[in-house]
Amino acid sequence: MNSTISHHTTTKVDDDRRTKEIAAEIEQRLRQADRLVLPLDETLELLAQLQEFELGRFLLHNRGLNGYWTSYIFRNEPTGPTTPLEHWLLNNSLLCQARERYHRFKEEIAARITDGATLASVPCGVMDDLLQQDYEGVTGFRLVGIDLDEESIGYARKNAAERGLAEHTAFQVRDAWNLGVEGEFDLIVSNGLNMYESDPQRLTDLYRSFHQALRPGGRLLLSFLTPPPPPPWEAPEQAAAWQKYQIAEADLRRELSIMGDIIQATYLNFSSEEEVRGQLAAAGLSVADIRYSPQGVLPIVTAVK
Ligand SMILES: C[S@@+](CC[C@H](N)C(=O)[O-])C[C@H]1O[C@@H](n2cnc3c(N)ncnc32)[C@H](O)[C@@H]1O
Repeated sequence: MNSTISHHTTTKVDDDRRTKEIAAEIEQRLRQADRLVLPLDETLELLAQLQEFELGRFLLHNRGLNGYWTSYIFRNEPTGPTTPLEHWLLNNSLLCQARERYHRFKEEIAARITDGATLASVPCGVMDDLLQQDYEGVTGFRLVGIDLDEESIGYARKNAAERGLAEHTAFQVRDAWNLGVEGEFDLIVSNGLNMYESDPQRLTDLYRSFHQALRPGGRLLLSFLTPPPPPPWEAPEQAAAWQKYQIAEADLRRELSIMGDIIQATYLNFSSEEEVRGQLAAAGLSVADIRYSPQGVLPIVTAVK
């Protein structure tokens, strides 16, 4: 498990020499690969294009996203001109489709905002999930952001100040598996951590850690990634399954080439609904609801202590 996805690295990658080394290592691996999703020349062209923008360089260095870049993708408000590949990542990729889930997440959270509630985000990243909410007229609430990455927490602090919520907010640099919190939170929201973990037992342990931190009756709001349809994608059944993701086949191949062949992203750990239900039950949590997108993908589960 890459439990320190953004821990050793900085959000803005400016080490050109290291980027070139990483690209050369990837190129060597690609040239030796038996099977690639796209032809080698197209794959190498994508590798070259990924080096042309900051998000691409971050992905090459880290093989996943930190809180800053997750927020960048979900907000989709680039501060300057984008390259064609960055524009594609922000507007046509599967990665950016998680934006819809992020908004569904926010709706679920909004329903839990009450006077005196303690709401936690683990891992918080820049904590848009709790901070981009309307707290007008709500009193005595507390927002707690926990993340292993100090840099993300720094961005979250700034975010809280900009939203006028600093006095309601507390942050901790901590491992999600070891929260050190007992029966305190009314709600824990957790997006973007379980998909970096491949060991089912570790996932149960993570949910147990959430269970411990919740007060009795408290809720966990959790996203997870279900397994994508396997190839051959041309087969009618798989093609129908992919249709739910509303992604053109050329875009899907490009995504799999970038995230699979080139970057070898570490967040591609999938769990079926049944597996997640089993892990939550083992952690002492009862599933109250599982909500998929209107197309039936990208689920969010609500579980109660
Ligand atoms: C993909 S981001 C998601 C952030 C946020 N929840 C969101 O949706 O924007 C993953 C975050 O997990 C954090 N992280 C990774 N391993 C962690 C761990 N063991 N404990 C706490 N945070 C961790 C990273 O620092 C990063 O900020």
